[in-house]
Amino acid sequence: MKGGLNGLKGKEISLISIVLMSATILIWTWEKTPGLTSFLPPQTQLQLSSDVDVGGGGSPLAKTESTSEQGELQLTQTFSAESSSGRSIDESHIISTTLTEQIHSKVSNEKTEAKEVLEAGNNHNAQTLSSQENISEERHQEEGKEASNEANIITDLVASNQSPQRSYSDDRKNNEDWNNGTERKACNYAKGKWVPDNNRPLYSGFECKQWLSSMWACRLTQRTDFAYENLRWQPRDCQMEEFEGSKFLRRMQNKTLAFVGDSLGRQQFQSLMCMITGGKETADVEDVGNEYGLVLTEGAARPNGWAYRFPSTHTTILYYWSATLCDIEPIDANNPNTDHAMHLDRPPAFLRQFIHKFDVLVLNTGHHWNRGKLKGNRWVMHVGGVPNTDKKIAVIWGAKNLTIHSVVSWVNSQLPKYPGLKAFFRTISPRHFFGGEWNTGGSCNNTTPMSIGKEILDEESTDQNAAHAVKGTGVKLLDITAISQLRDEGHISRFSITAKPGMQDCLHWCLPGVPDTWNEILFAQI
Ligand SMILES: *[C@@H]1O[C@H](CO)[C@@H](O)[C@H](O)[C@H]1NC(C)=O
Ligand SMILES: *[C@@H]1O[C@H](CO)[C@@H](O)[C@H](O)[C@H]1NC(C)=O
Ligand SMILES: *[C@@H]1O[C@H](CO)[C@@H](O)[C@H](O)[C@H]1NC(C)=O
Repeated sequence: MKGGLNGLKGKEISLISIVLMSATILIWTWEKTPGLTSFLPPQTQLQLSSDVDVGGGGSPLAKTESTSEQGELQLTQTFSAESSSGRSIDESHIISTTLTEQIHSKVSNEKTEAKEVLEAGNNHNAQTLSSQENISEERHQEEGKEASNEANIITDLVASNQSPQRSYSDDRKNNEDWNNGTERKACNYAKGKWVPDNNRPLYSGFECKQWLSSMWACRLTQRTDFAYENLRWQPRDCQMEEFEGSKFLRRMQNKTLAFVGDSLGRQQFQSLMCMITGGKETADVEDVGNEYGLVLTEGAARPNGWAYRFPSTHTTILYYWSATLCDIEPIDANNPNTDHAMHLDRPPAFLRQFIHKFDVLVLNTGHHWNRGKLKGNRWVMHVGGVPNTDKKIAVIWGAKNLTIHSVVSWVNSQLPKYPGLKAFFRTISPRHFFGGEWNTGGSCNNTTPMSIGKEILDEESTDQNAAHAVKGTGVKLLDITAISQLRDEGHISRFSITAKPGMQDCLHWCLPGVPDTWNEILFAQI
């Protein structure tokens, strides 16, 4: 050091002084700015961020009023917490680079992997094998681009989870983006793989008696294999946030989520109720069915649906039974044996009446579209208010396709009026009857998870009707078809309490089970 300072010219000394002074002022400002230090010293902020995530004690909400610096700081800290290795946003480009490398080394294996999945008896044919390979090639070229966006996507995710006090206008803006599809390129949750995970299931099939029908609670039947409960879906290109009931309720504060669909929709509803409560008896949940006309009418075995409210956050979860997602009315209201008009191009009255109350809507249909059900229910297809005469629509799949397109298009037409609404069409839930149908000795006896395969690499949904219907609309696809196709061991099989011996249920799922994953994927997108 000796002579060091003496060796400097005056100009240089004053430059250094300025730099030193600026630094001192900066540090001083940092320490003294109340917004930064009064309740958010850097070392406790990590803790605060994780409080926000796990909920529980204290109200983090009061502490997150946001100066922009604070917001950024929090973002950084949360990012660090989430990645659990102390990374900061500044390092995100490193993550991108690493990701790119990983992806590139993975791509060389992809064709083999794709082949394996396909050869394992997944519902693909030889034709899709070559298109699979093309997809791999295209992806190879796109991966770099995607990877460099990955860090941004992660921070976006963090940001959206990190703003429990979003103002209404923010919400509105977000939803407008969401509904326009102008949101950042959403990742495809339907691409990924099943992995064994001892942190599954998310609730106990013995415990969730409050919400779970006993016929679907396989723990209450004679079934003795439960490996199907210990699987988690891991999307390939997106981070999927761990589901927590408290987090779900906070995000859905003052909001209503509605499932409208068939019995598979009811399974998803029961699953979600169990997931939110962790399967624990929850005395304070209110039955608010009467607000939606969901009451037991005389002579009916059960109401047309159920609605429950969690008073702590004023969150309402409801299910309405509409097997076909079209409006059904008696042709002669005075005749108890009347036929019913099935208005293929008109959404269920319930949906038209209550859509203004919904913040999240999940539609599904599929398995009631067969001649037997239509005949049994005395449903007569109508289009434009009159009996259908179009032969193309008269075939079942044509009628189903028209209905799916109609209901999606109608919901889409409502979105400008309800910019807060996030609407999903859940793709069809696959059946796994082997050696016959449900009434002709079909069965699903496999007990080993992932013996069909464990990975889905397709970009496009295998439910083409649904995918086509939502294209270009603000309705999102909740694409669960292919991933559930891999889970033939997860059905009720011969263990249903009510099924007669010799008849198997290879349509509905054991709960806890596969529909829990549908809800995890739903949660990731709301
Ligand atoms: C929820 O509604 C209550 C009562 O209307 C209101 O006081 C509260 O601020 C609302 N909370 C949110 C997060 O919108
Ligand atoms: C389903 O209906 C839509 C809308 O009417 C139509 O564009 C589409 O071609 C139909 N799909 C099939 C497979 O016929
Ligand atoms: C499944 O099990 C049932 C009852 O044990 C049996 O009758 C049926 O043949 C089995 N199906 C297959 C495909 O193994």
